[in-house]
Order: sequence, then structure tokens, then C-alpha cells
Amino acid sequence: MKDSELVARYDGRVPRYTSYPTAPYFSAAVDSETYSAWLGALSPDAPLSLYIHVPFCDRLCLYCGCNTSVVRHEQPRRDYAHLLGLEINMLADQLGHRAAVSHVHWGGGTPTCLPNDCLTGIMDLIRRRFAVRADAEIAIEIDPTSFTPDKADALTLMGVNRASLGVQDFDEKVQTAIGRMQSYEETQACADKLRAVGIHAINLDLIYGLPHQTVASVVRTAQQALALQAGRIAVFGYAHVPWMKRHQALIKDAWLPDAPARFAQMQAIAGVLEGEGGYVPVGLDHYAQPDDAMAVALRDKSLHRSFQGYTTDAAPTLLAVGASSIGSLPQGYVQNATSVPAYATAIMAGRFATVRGVALTAEDILRRIVIEKIMCDLHVDLAEVAQSMGADAVDLLTAADNLLPMCHDGLVTWDGLRLSVTERGRPFVRNVAAVFDAYLNTDDAAPKYARAV
Ligand SMILES: C[S@@+](CC[C@H](N)C(=O)[O-])C[C@H]1O[C@@H](n2cnc3c(N)ncnc32)[C@H](O)[C@@H]1O
Ligand code: SF4
Repeated sequence: MKDSELVARYDGRVPRYTSYPTAPYFSAAVDSETYSAWLGALSPDAPLSLYIHVPFCDRLCLYCGCNTSVVRHEQPRRDYAHLLGLEINMLADQLGHRAAVSHVHWGGGTPTCLPNDCLTGIMDLIRRRFAVRADAEIAIEIDPTSFTPDKADALTLMGVNRASLGVQDFDEKVQTAIGRMQSYEETQACADKLRAVGIHAINLDLIYGLPHQTVASVVRTAQQALALQAGRIAVFGYAHVPWMKRHQALIKDAWLPDAPARFAQMQAIAGVLEGEGGYVPVGLDHYAQPDDAMAVALRDKSLHRSFQGYTTDAAPTLLAVGASSIGSLPQGYVQNATSVPAYATAIMAGRFATVRGVALTAEDILRRIVIEKIMCDLHVDLAEVAQSMGADAVDLLTAADNLLPMCHDGLVTWDGLRLSVTERGRPFVRNVAAVFDAYLNTDDAAPKYARAV
């Protein structure tokens, strides 16, 4: 079957499975009281991860799908940092013990928007209230265009040891259309500066499917990205959701590549990264140098998927701090109020800002493992997973008929109860995972998710 036929058949709107159940199925039944109870019940021995969300940027990129806004003055940034500190203290108080922390991820927005003393102050507070392990990963997302040398010093004081640099595309015509001018030189200067202060683990983000991109232009960008020698490169498909992100309406539909063109761009980038670059493909959208911890985790089958995408972090609990952030506990998921004022009102009143979430059932947990294995390993042994949970694999097969066309199209192989996604099927791994999603109703899912390819 030709690529264009495959794309036409499978380019539905399916979740990215950074959680299961996925966020549209969270409800207000899970609130701050539920969250308090869940926190209080966590085992003192269980390691944690922390996610700190900073929803501010110096400017708004037109393609941006993140939860962020432009905040120019320093005082609101300081006020927000104060709230983060209050929430961190509330979490530690509620846990009642100084929990071990294996990962801290600062995301956004652009976390480096916070004043330097706020960044270092929050990190100091985290270290006082939690037992951050000596080998913990402390990661932060960086916009190279707003990165100043003093920030690098603050990151060193914080103990940051991994930085993700947003690139998207180096082509000027594309950059003009997406409202993000960023030269190769300033990206390189940012990576050099980080390495000079001892932050050697560098990730890059690229996007395909942006206005005016072509196979030739994305190949040039991918080749330039190779020269930056990042340990990991994420390659996202542009999610055009103007009904949710109104500023994206400034990107005209007519400028956007169609589905077969997006697919060709994605394949062309993969060709450069895997071919010339020697990167290992990881799951749906990541590439790692063979000696990077993510490639090692892939080989060890210890890769995980969380709201930050693919991760080497194995902690069973992710506590999320800040407006809109989503946490994951053994009992279920919790999401904070999306708007900063609503978040501030709750935190200032001394209660968690949880507004929605979902309590996991035994079936959810079983399906979550299956979906995570498909998304990470591109393989799952249903009998093994079911047995580990004391369940019957047959219960997982309610929608298994949907796998038959995928087998026929060469996207999966299906041997008894062992399912493997083929290389041809890798771009459609979300569709394969969706077969095991008991909530997904393809009729009502259409407006909620970006396209599959
Ligand atoms: C929070 S942002 C990154 C950090 C930083 N603010 C920056 O822009 O460089 C995380 C990444 O999400 C990706 N992203 C943002 N909006 C997107 C969209 N609409 N579709 C696909 N990827 C998107 C970009 O690759 C971006 O680098
Ligand atoms: S892409 Fe990054 S810098 Fe641009 S608006 Fe989104 S979060 Fe801010």
C-alpha cells in the first residue's frame, strides 16, 4: 500500500497517550480533598518526581499549543514564584515525610522567564523539603532566543543537568510565518553556553507540518540540528488546533502542508537523524544518540511515557506544581486550575488547586500498562501484562478486531497474545494504542485531538 493510502486510512484524530485515561476523560469528581487523601496515603519509600510549570513567555509564538501567556513585568512573575513555593510546602506537609525525588522537570511556557533568584530559591526549597537524590535528573525547557548568560549561571546553581532547547525550524520563511525568528547561531551559542557551565545533556525540539515547510527545508533543518550534537531530538507534528488556541488562527490553513506532505516531511527528518546522524528512533517522536540514557532505557525496556512525553524516569508518582499542571499518582491523575488567577486563589487559601482528575480502576491500570508498552516498546505481551495484574488477557481483546486491518496493512504483527508494531507502523503507533483505549469513541473524539500524523 502506498504511503498516501496509509495516511488517508489512519490519519484520524487520536490521543498522544501521555496518560491513560486521557485528559478529556478527567472530571471534577477528583478535587483538592481527593488529592490530599491520595498524597497522605503514599508510601514513604516510594520515590517521586516533580514537575514545575511556569506558564509565562516573553512573546507568543503563533504555533504554540502550550499553556502559556505573555507576561512582561517582573512582579507577576515573582508573585507566581511565591505561589509555587507555597504549593511545594503544602505538598511536603501533606506527605508528612521528606520524600526521595529522582527527577525534577521545569516546563512551560518558558521557565527561565522567572527571575534568577526565584529559580534558585524554589530549587533550594525543593531540596530542603524533599530528599533530591544525588543522581537526580534536573531538567529545564529553554527558549534559546530569550536565554541570557546570567541564566546559565542560575541553572548551574539550581543543579540543572539536562536542558531542552526549542528549535522547531531554522528556515527563515517558516520562522516568519510562525512568528519565531531564531538563527542557527543563537541556538548554537545557547548550547555552547550550557555546555560551558557543565550542562552536557542537551535535547532539541523540531516540528514538521509547519507553514511553508517542504521535504527539502526540513532536511536542511535536521542537518543543522545534527551539528548541535544533542543527545536527544524530539520531532513533533504541528498540532493545529485554532479552536483551542486562537492565536494559531493567524497561521492560514492554506500555508499548511497536507497530510501526505506532513508524512513525507516526518520520514525525511527520520532519514537524516537515523541515517547521517546515527540516532536511534524512540517511540513515536523521539530520537536518541545510542549512548544516551533514553536509548539505553529503550534497550532495557525501562522507557516510560508521562505528560512530558518519553522519559527514563521510573518513579510511580509525579507531583505537578503550578497552574494547569497534571500530576500522576498510583491512585489516579490530578490537574490544577488552568488559569493563574484560579490557581492563585486556591493556593492562597491554603488548599490544593486541583480542579479535575480521574481515579484509576483496576481495568484502567491494566490498559494503561498495555498502552504505555505499545507507545514505548512498540511491543506488548498481553498475557504477560494480564498475568502480572491478576487479570485475564481476553478482557483486553474487546476491540481486537480493529487490529486485523492493521495486520493486513503491515503496521503490526499479531502472534497469539503478542503484539508488535512494525517500523512501517511506528508513525501510527497511537492508532495501535487506541485499540486498547476503552474510553475512546472515534465519533466524539474528532474535535479533541490533533491529527495522528
Ligand atoms: C513548552 S515548549 C518549549 C520551550 C520554550 N518555550 C521554547 O519555545 O523554546 C515545548 C515544545 O512544544 C512544542 N510545541 C509547542 N506548540 C506545538 C504545537 N502546536 N504542535 C507541536 N508541537 C508544539 C515545541 O517543539 C516546543 O519546543
Ligand atoms: S513555543 Fe515556547 S516560547 Fe513560544 S509561546 Fe510556546 S512556550 Fe512560549
